Amino acid sequence: MDNVEMEEFVNAVRERSDIYEVVSRYVPLTLKSGRFWACCPFHEEKTPSFTVTPDKGIFYCFGCHEGGNVFKFISLMEHITYFEAVKLQAERLGIKLPSRKKTSEEIKFENEKEALQKITSFARNFYHNCLMNSKDGEQGRKYLAARGITESVIKEFCLGFAPDSWDALTKKVKSQGFSEKQLVAAGLAVEKKGGNGVYDRLRGRVIIPISDIAGNAVAFGGRILVNAEDQPKYLNTPETEIFVKGKMLFGLDKSSRAIINANTAIVVEGYMDAISLYSVGFKNVVASLGTAFTEEHAKILSRYARRIIFCYDSDDAGQRATVRALPIMKNTGAEVYILIVPDGKDPDEFIRNHGKAAFKKLLDNVTPFLDFQFQYKLKHIDFSTLQGKMQVLHEILPLCNEIKDTLIQREYLKKFSSVLLLDENVILEEWRKISGRPPNEKKVAPKNFPKTKVSLISQAGVSIIKTLWHEPELLNYVNALVPMENFINIHREIINYIGKCYEEGRTPDTLNSARELSPEANLEISRIFGNTDPNEAQMLAFHDSIKIMQRVELEKRYQNIEREIQELSKVGDIENLNLKILNLIEIQKEITEL
Ligand code: UTP
Ligand code: MN
Repeated sequence: MDNVEMEEFVNAVRERSDIYEVVSRYVPLTLKSGRFWACCPFHEEKTPSFTVTPDKGIFYCFGCHEGGNVFKFISLMEHITYFEAVKLQAERLGIKLPSRKKTSEEIKFENEKEALQKITSFARNFYHNCLMNSKDGEQGRKYLAARGITESVIKEFCLGFAPDSWDALTKKVKSQGFSEKQLVAAGLAVEKKGGNGVYDRLRGRVIIPISDIAGNAVAFGGRILVNAEDQPKYLNTPETEIFVKGKMLFGLDKSSRAIINANTAIVVEGYMDAISLYSVGFKNVVASLGTAFTEEHAKILSRYARRIIFCYDSDDAGQRATVRALPIMKNTGAEVYILIVPDGKDPDEFIRNHGKAAFKKLLDNVTPFLDFQFQYKLKHIDFSTLQGKMQVLHEILPLCNEIKDTLIQREYLKKFSSVLLLDENVILEEWRKISGRPPNEKKVAPKNFPKTKVSLISQAGVSIIKTLWHEPELLNYVNALVPMENFINIHREIINYIGKCYEEGRTPDTLNSARELSPEANLEISRIFGNTDPNEAQMLAFHDSIKIMQRVELEKRYQNIEREIQELSKVGDIENLNLKILNLIEIQKEITEL
């Protein structure tokens, strides 16, 4: 096509595009004083500053100053080029792209695809009809009813049933004038060994059609009625010209609207999970269908929503799949959350056992990406040893790079510190090493050492000694990270003793230490090792640490205000001085309460 033709084409598409209609596919618009308003999809905001003026065919955001015509909008929303946006919009409007003459090969390929599409559409209706109206379908109806799947859900998802026959579908499709070859190409039939004829791939199974975004059936999953050892639970039609697994999200054809409206997509593993959530009203759901979550999946989802909630099965396999999927999704810039199903194998089971309201509660309390990663590491790495703690740190800190907000950094620093029982300064040091960009240092290491710090150091010392006593070879590691003078005296004495034993090739024991160490150090050793219930000890230490950390924070604020008071009294600003003094008294009270 030449330039003139091209220009005419773009103009034609623009003229027939209604920017109001296009934009409201993505964001709900409200009419106010002659313009349509919405919260801007291109930047984070709570009050609408994004506008659409349909008669001018433009959009503009007063907040981020993004603006332009309908194609600019589509290209931004879909992360595609301007021209791709023109093509996409043309496609939606059914306007044919003026094109150079296609080669005969291209024409053949397109025709084949079209034929595939026709066969799969036909098959979907055939299976659905079997389920709804045939005697064979009765088993399928019973099965679905037993799973609580209503007729309206069956219709909505066009569920079906494949009769337990070798050629029921093949015969029907052939009678429509399609060839066996086409049936095989569509994945619906399999060639018999020896090449004489074909047979139906899916037999005696409930059929779940998989549709492309336009709602055309492109593939099928067939669920066995009674789980059996020697047969797969789901038999799926294979990848074809029109079905590429890694690019397909089950349910998206139905859920895209709800996903856009909620700006949130829930990603589940199984067909049944998606159907279940959808049917009780959580319509913004898609399933990744047991395959690995791909970059392509992530890219597709990121076009529809900013928040993505993974809700995979609660078994190990599901959790592993979650951990693999998270960074892929995260890389698109999405806000990623995880919903951990607390009871039952998967969300479908949970909803059936506990109902919709209980699931809503879970949805309202999803775990943020970083917290999930931290919890997952804690579950899989033994962090009772210093080595384990450091491993957790080394795996979690690289994921913290994206946190820009220093307050949030601070929260995580506190969390890591109190759970791992590591001094914040140790974590800071690691953070600096790993990311080269430590969190706001001034906040964490105040010039004036707060009094509580001593007990914090003492706690860290206890946990380090606990580890070193049994693994003295870690002493070099500790030495490299923590200068000895930072330990309290007694701990330094004990650690030196452990080092001495290690050098002399003996294991530290309480009998020898009684002879070699001061009574205070021995008292401390019996305090450290006297508690026989490590879990309780750990919990106590944990709760103590939290209190300590709260106190450290309060003391820092106290000191800051004290400094401010000094300044104010120098300049004689009595009014502010009184305010600050009130502040000070309040903090004093909080510290006492702690
Ligand atoms: P699940 O076993 O979690 O599926 O597998 P589900 O939907 O919860 O199954 P039921 O009916 O409630 O027991 C997750 C997904 O993995 C694929 C399917 O897409 C399934 O939905 N899968 C699973 C297969 O393709 N084949 C199988 O044999 C099993
Ligand atoms: Mn299930």
